[in-house]
Amino acid sequence: MEEAAGPSPKGFTRETWEMFARDGILVIENALTATEVETLVAAVEKQRNPTSWNIVETDVRFTPLIDLPAHIGYVYDVYGEMLKLLRSEFFKREPQQPIRNRWHFDGPRVLPFEVFSPKVPLRIKVGYWLTPLTTENRGNLVYIPGSHHWAHLPQYHTHEPHPQERQLTIGPGAMTLMWSGIWHRVAENNGEDTRLNLFLEYGPSWIVSSDRVSSDPEWMSGLSRTRRILMRDYEHPNNLVKLPEGDVPLYLPRPGELDPEAELYTDNVPPALRKRSTWLEREELV
Ligand SMILES: [Fe+2]
Repeated sequence: MEEAAGPSPKGFTRETWEMFARDGILVIENALTATEVETLVAAVEKQRNPTSWNIVETDVRFTPLIDLPAHIGYVYDVYGEMLKLLRSEFFKREPQQPIRNRWHFDGPRVLPFEVFSPKVPLRIKVGYWLTPLTTENRGNLVYIPGSHHWAHLPQYHTHEPHPQERQLTIGPGAMTLMWSGIWHRVAENNGEDTRLNLFLEYGPSWIVSSDRVSSDPEWMSGLSRTRRILMRDYEHPNNLVKLPEGDVPLYLPRPGELDPEAELYTDNVPPALRKRSTWLEREELV
């Protein structure tokens, strides 16, 4: 018997959403406790490769990231009942690493998400920074605030500096949310320590996952209801578009939060076929 749905953890305020929509990035320091950082550092250090995908399935210490309270409420506020984990990965950026990402934005380049959805990102990337990045050129994320609506960047696919670029300088345990179209690259690591971080990408279930075709059934059977739903490992692909009855609701409204759309249906329409508003819609921010 799976557990019953509860309200989602807290997410955006109007202020934090407005910052995110303006800058294409939101930085939240101390999102993780020191113990959480320590556990995740140990899990990343155990990995032999410098990066790997679908990590939530590969180590029990990564599995709780699927619905970690520090971030899940934020992405639920945007994608609501169709929320899905699209990709999970870690990165180890060793000192003097010759290969590092050049200017790019995440997601499709030939026909970017921004063409269709300039007001709401179709993917949000949650980053957790596990090692201190208090100075520049330690493998920091380099980004251009407000660039998430730019279709083109002359420096694309190079490491040429941009006059508006900034290096992310934060302490261990900081969290970032990145709008799918924001231009970014990775700085050199001229320090002595390997930079460690995690990324989790979310979107609506009808955007394809980019780190797996399917999940291991035995691993899936050990997940909580919420985590199982967020993996959206459906046997039939149409379930990604029309959610199965048992997977709605993913979360209940938070105390004091009412969904006016929930009242618009009579009993002949099953819950999985009723439109549910997102926090963004209810706040009229989109
Ligand atoms: Fe990227």
